[in-house]
Amino acid sequence: CSAPASVSVVSGSDGPGVSEERELSTETTSSPVIYNPHTSMSIEKQRQKLPVFKHRNHILYLVESYQTVVIVGETGCGKSTQIPQYLLEAGWAAEGKVIGVTQPRRVAAISVASRVAEERGALLGHEVGYTIRFDDCSDPHATRIKFLTDGMLVREMMADPLLKKYSVLMLDEAHERTLYTDIAIGLLKKIQKKRRDLRLIVASATLDAKKFQEFFNLNESGDPAKDTCGILTVEGRTFPVDVFYTVSPVPDYVKATVETVLKIHETEDDGDVLAFLTGQEEVEKVVSMLVEQARALSRYGMKKHLRVLPMYAGLPYAEQMKVFERVPPTVRKVIVATNIAETSITINGTVFVIDCAFVKMRAYNPRTAIESLVVTPISKAAANQRAGRGGRNRPGKCFRLYTEEDFEKLPPSTVPEMQRTNLAPVILQLKALGIDNVLRFNFLSPPPAQSMVQALELLYALGGLDQYGRLTDPMGVRMAEFPLSPMFAKMLLESGNFGCSKEIVTIAAMMQIQNIFVVPANQKKAAREHRKFAVAEGDHLTMLNVYEAFIKVRKSSQWCQDHFLNYKGLLRAVTVREQLRRLMNKFKVPRTSSEGDPDVILKCIVSGFFANAARLHHSGSYRTLRDDRELHIHPTSVLYAEKPPKWVVYNEVVQTSKYFMRDVTAVESSWLVELAPHFYKQAKHGSLSSKRSKVI
Ligand code: CDP
Ligand code: MG
Repeated sequence: CSAPASVSVVSGSDGPGVSEERELSTETTSSPVIYNPHTSMSIEKQRQKLPVFKHRNHILYLVESYQTVVIVGETGCGKSTQIPQYLLEAGWAAEGKVIGVTQPRRVAAISVASRVAEERGALLGHEVGYTIRFDDCSDPHATRIKFLTDGMLVREMMADPLLKKYSVLMLDEAHERTLYTDIAIGLLKKIQKKRRDLRLIVASATLDAKKFQEFFNLNESGDPAKDTCGILTVEGRTFPVDVFYTVSPVPDYVKATVETVLKIHETEDDGDVLAFLTGQEEVEKVVSMLVEQARALSRYGMKKHLRVLPMYAGLPYAEQMKVFERVPPTVRKVIVATNIAETSITINGTVFVIDCAFVKMRAYNPRTAIESLVVTPISKAAANQRAGRGGRNRPGKCFRLYTEEDFEKLPPSTVPEMQRTNLAPVILQLKALGIDNVLRFNFLSPPPAQSMVQALELLYALGGLDQYGRLTDPMGVRMAEFPLSPMFAKMLLESGNFGCSKEIVTIAAMMQIQNIFVVPANQKKAAREHRKFAVAEGDHLTMLNVYEAFIKVRKSSQWCQDHFLNYKGLLRAVTVREQLRRLMNKFKVPRTSSEGDPDVILKCIVSGFFANAARLHHSGSYRTLRDDRELHIHPTSVLYAEKPPKWVVYNEVVQTSKYFMRDVTAVESSWLVELAPHFYKQAKHGSLSSKRSKVI
């Protein structure tokens, strides 16, 4: 695979949007797995032992007989790795056709593809390959089984609306109900009506199969013999997992995670540990606490060593891959992960799972039009997925850091992302795929109508849709093609005209990286260093300063250390910037520079982010211009604890005890009226009010 597994600029599933998972990697993929003839027997035996193997013929029969087959099976039973191979062996990839398997996450697409290639004794990228954004490790002639993210599949539909090269598509991990899985589901139903030969397999780990079946059954005759969708349930999992609960609720799950890891290390037999937390910060905190403990333990002469590894989407790809490396018997691996490790991937050797019961996810409030990242309790289905990570190679144990009573209170399944997200990116892509009437699109779970209307209004104000709701050309068409949220796309596409594309592309790249400022134990000294970059305008220009200074010192890691800056993050920003630059060239955005004039840059930011505007309230907090909702400046912003500017725009909102704006910049109110006349109008006394536009 020639291309490095590179940047994702935003969400985990290769679609545009906001996400905690801001960024992927820049480093090259590890070398492909090479066939080892000595292991072929054992792999073959392992394959036959999987619960799904007993159903091989029945699955093939169902795929022959029905246009869609829903397969439900517990995690680890062999859905992702085996079913595509059964189809290949049965001839579904004859005559140059491809068996496509979608995954909600990039890391899953790569790791499952690697495993299947290994099982087949093939070099990754030939018979078995994968395609994720900016990294195509497949061969258009040779690849027969292709793993791809659900976001990529939707993108492929733009070039090939009927997906003609595929004979079968398996929508894997459909229970996750990510935004792009749901979009793919709606679009594939449409395609199936035109392509009766296209087979669809919907693989899910939970029992929501009936919903999928009803959705995909095209039989309107009432005669069950004419059903077009079949169901199969695969019983059993590879190995049992014992689940343990706490007797009483834990006050601090971060601390409890560390304690549980140490307890396992002291009292349990061999086996690696996988702990789930909600985000990068928590993961890093637990990692550093454990690393410290591990040092102490080795001083006390503990026989086994701990190797602690983080795993989150923002980590460079090469470091993510470290979690898959085997360790010597004298070492116990502890992986501290976000929900990136919850489904699809098998981390060999994992026996013990620690589950904190929480996840960070997107939430969208259609009443206030605020999209935020919020830490919420997981669902029962997700808790079972997490536990399942422990039983994939041998019997496992799952330690839930909550009581059994609290488990019972969890919702049965997670609300589909479609129903809790800002829909502007979705609508833009549907429009680009020729779906004009998005309100009547066949959604598996329709989003709230209000979210739709808000998304249409925003796209109209951004200039991506015209007053009839049609995609504008070139702006709307290009925005749809841009693998970033429409607000970022607009800002970048307009930057040439504003005369600051050089600076804006840097700012956009820096906004994809979390935690550029490192906050060590000696906070005061770090804060002093950070202040050297800070400017009164806010975070965007501060980040521009940091980046430019980093380039000036020739990307020195020592310099980053001296100034408490995230060296790896900055290196990633360089790569992200390069990717964005290439896209801008493709769209012929002129290369211009503001030559030190900040207002030009700020106006350009407003041209994309005007909808995220807030004004200072006399109480000292802020209020959104759209809906008068209370917001606060995030403590990580350079504007925090400074004299608050009157008007600001922000990138995103994080919700904890309050709604916090992250990446905030001061603006002039007149720019909002000037640059978003469809969105805001000047009311009496010079203040702004938001205006409802008419587009539907
Ligand atoms: O998709 P599903 O959760 O049903 O299972 P899978 O990903 O197909 O994996 C089936 C089994 O293959 C796992 O339970 C592991 O025993 C094994 N496997 C492995 O050992 N190493 C991998 N990288 C992937 C799978
Ligand atoms: Mg799977």
